[in-house]
Amino acid sequence: MFTDRSRYCAPVSPGTGIVPARIMARSLLKRLNIKEPERAEVLLLVNELATNIIRHGLEGELCIFPVTAEGYTGFLIRATDRGPGIKDLETALKPGISQDNGLGLGLSAIKRIADDVRISSMIEGGTQVEVWKWLS
Ligand SMILES: Nc1ncnc2c1ncn2[C@@H]1O[C@H](COP(=O)(O)OP(=O)(O)OP(=O)(O)O)[C@@H](O)[C@H]1O
Ligand SMILES: [Mg+2]
Repeated sequence: MFTDRSRYCAPVSPGTGIVPARIMARSLLKRLNIKEPERAEVLLLVNELATNIIRHGLEGELCIFPVTAEGYTGFLIRATDRGPGIKDLETALKPGISQDNGLGLGLSAIKRIADDVRISSMIEGGTQVEVWKWLS
């Protein structure tokens, strides 16, 4: 499934912030010569996922894998944390609902921009969000 054996991961925590994840994503996008608008879309996905790790999941990791499947190429972006988990997933995915003074738009923007989103979360067991974005 992976075209590229390299695995791009960056730590995300209140200490590191989201900058290492953004730098990693930008360098991968540059290396693969990804142009707008896909470049901006992938960076937005990285931004929202990494921000959610810090704000809600405390600390974790963000990875981007270049992927191919059925003739398409794209990216799998995976955000993993060891935080409290998403208590009410259905509500969390609704636009405008934040459980933490945010705008509550991050996950709904992710769902709109991405081609596929899979969230697995356990109460007190952490959260993993996997996002697929295919290139046209
Ligand atoms: N990694 C996570 N761990 C625990 N809860 C999460 C995580 N990511 C999202 N959530 C929950 O889902 C809700 C919705 O997330 P979303 O990104 O849409 O909004 P927000 O982060 O609160 O605000 P915004 O992204 O607009 O600044 C959050 O308020 C939070 O309760
Ligand atoms: Mg958010």
